[in-house]
Amino acid sequence: MSRMLNKIAIITGAASNPGLGYSTVMRFAQEGAKLVITDIDMVGLAAVEKELTAMGAEVLTMEQNVVDEQRWQEVIDATVERFGGLDVLVNNAGIAVLKPINEYTQADYNMQMDVNLRSVFLGCQKAVPAMKDSGGGSIVNMSSVAGMRAMAAVSVYGMAKAGVQILSKCVAIEHAADGVRCNSLHPGLIETNIQNDARRDNPEGHAQLGTMVPFGRMGYPEEVANCVLFLASDEASYVTGAELVVDGGLIAG
Ligand SMILES: NC(=O)c1ccc[n+]([C@@H]2O[C@H](COP(=O)([O-])OP(=O)(O)OC[C@H]3O[C@@H](n4cnc5c(N)ncnc54)[C@H](O)[C@@H]3O)[C@@H](O)[C@H]2O)c1
Repeated sequence: MSRMLNKIAIITGAASNPGLGYSTVMRFAQEGAKLVITDIDMVGLAAVEKELTAMGAEVLTMEQNVVDEQRWQEVIDATVERFGGLDVLVNNAGIAVLKPINEYTQADYNMQMDVNLRSVFLGCQKAVPAMKDSGGGSIVNMSSVAGMRAMAAVSVYGMAKAGVQILSKCVAIEHAADGVRCNSLHPGLIETNIQNDARRDNPEGHAQLGTMVPFGRMGYPEEVANCVLFLASDEASYVTGAELVVDGGLIAG
């Protein structure tokens, strides 16, 4: 009940239920964190806020498009003003634009890279000064196994997620002396709304992917949230610049 006691944490993309941001928020709340939840989906976010308040959690809810640089600064400033510092950032918000390479438009490419990679760069850049002021902190960047292995129809998504991985390592070494840790998390196939979208867009390919998981099933969002919790908490005090794969063995072979 106290693995995140009084830790001040921002989680982006927290509105989607079932979703990895939502599950992370719930797990952090169970462990005593003070929460800043952001998303572009204010209807979903209001429902999450209601649930958190009923649990007795302290929560600040903010609309945030993660590609907006100025909004990042406003979210960080509001967090420090409300709770007095910043300990944890989970760069979770993301979208999946999944197509064969020759079908990608420039607009698809720009959107995928902006939402899944540039946003994470902005979040790290804006969060680090506030974390330094707080005496250190932990950034958890949501990457994917798609950033580690080639798969059909995930080229630009995979490029963005591979970028998140190396960005996380660079932040880790640049700010190790400041007490700021930064790690990437690499989920496999997890049952969330993003998978529902992928299933709708490419039902045959999606069904095929599912059969490749050695565990014989997709993962539950809570199984990823437990790993975010570990990396965010002081239990991971010597872990930085690492990648944690959570995929039921999908890319182990
Ligand atoms: N579910 C999986 O199988 C899986 C696997 C690997 C990685 N991931 C990654 O995990 C993260 C969360 O995915 P999920 O499965 O929970 O998806 P999801 O679609 O359930 O949730 C994503 C959330 O991000 C929000 N969002 C989208 N664009 C945004 C923007 N521009 N600004 C702010 N918020 C925005 C959405 O409103 C939504 O609430 C993503 O980065 C995704 O790429 C998911």
